[in-house]
Amino acid sequence: MKIPIAQPLIGEDEIAAVARVMRSGMLAQGSIVTEFESRFAEYCGVAHAIGVNSGTAALHAALLAAEIGPGDSVIVPAFTFFATASAVSMCGATPRFADVDPRTFNIDPDSVEALIRPDTRAVIGVHLFGQPFDVGAVRDLCDDRGLILIEDAAQAHGAEYREKRAGSLADLGCFSFYPTKNMTTGEGGMVTTGDDALAERLRLLINHGQSRKYLHSAIGYNYRMTNMGAAIGLVQLDRLEGFNERRIHNARYLDRHLPGTGLVTPYVAPGVRHVYHQYVVRLPAGYPLTRDAFMSALADRGIGTAVHYPIPVNRQPVYQNASGDASCPVSDDLAASVVSLPVHPSVTDEELAYICDAVRGLRGA
Ligand SMILES: Cc1ncc(COP(=O)(O)O)c(C=O)c1O
Repeated sequence: MKIPIAQPLIGEDEIAAVARVMRSGMLAQGSIVTEFESRFAEYCGVAHAIGVNSGTAALHAALLAAEIGPGDSVIVPAFTFFATASAVSMCGATPRFADVDPRTFNIDPDSVEALIRPDTRAVIGVHLFGQPFDVGAVRDLCDDRGLILIEDAAQAHGAEYREKRAGSLADLGCFSFYPTKNMTTGEGGMVTTGDDALAERLRLLINHGQSRKYLHSAIGYNYRMTNMGAAIGLVQLDRLEGFNERRIHNARYLDRHLPGTGLVTPYVAPGVRHVYHQYVVRLPAGYPLTRDAFMSALADRGIGTAVHYPIPVNRQPVYQNASGDASCPVSDDLAASVVSLPVHPSVTDEELAYICDAVRGLRGA
């Protein structure tokens, strides 16, 4: 058996949709992007969605639209993908690293509060692995201190917090459509917002700051989404609920069958819909195998695993010692003990049974 840790699901409908765009000759940003943006905004329950060419571009453009720049600091979780923090640096601002909750792996509101200083302008919460962060608590802190709240929803298409979808939970939402995400456009991203002025500024920033043809009123970027990407995205958006339901089904199977193997299975906070971009377990202290040995034993049985993420962002060489912040011990602990198991929609019940058997077999090893 061969079970990869991730597998994009591209079918004939996506291929036909791209072929139609290619035959039309309208390859770059155009009406298909506009259609995808309005369908995605409707799906999220938000007024505006602006298509871009990566999740990193989405974060960078969102921060620029919020006028974050040199002299400002932005609070981000230490336990996330690098781009959550690097987008802040790309604006000339300073990321400051909050620790995360040991059960949800998401940004810890107490740690955020402790980091707020006069130069703090915004907080980026990440819905890590598909589970919304504690939006209510972080939102309250932001409202009290006049901070902008950005949700990094790169891993959370269709996730919900108190019955509202990711992308509608903050001032700005940022998505990635990288091939392994819950839905894809090849490469791509989306910024969502309910604020008309932010949406207008975003449209300017992602297109060279061009207010009309060859008239540039700001320094902007070429972050435009292509019609080809949007054509894939429209088909994938129709399939997203099915994908997410299968991810949730797979996660529940693992939740039911992994207890007793010594692994710590994911915790789901009340009031959220977790869409399992990743199914992340922890190897607790005293587990009989090292993480490397655990992963290679599963690899020997054809089961792909991965570590998301082995180094907290505050410990990356480019950030080490940069901010002088207190350490983030929970993030350190998670980085040393987490492993992701296959949960993507292509994993079958038979494969899930095989994974659980394999893990059970390792216990006594
Ligand atoms: C949490 C998070 N933020 C941002 C990004 C950046 O997205 P992209 O790879 O599309 O630039 C990713 C994707 O890898 C991510 O997982």
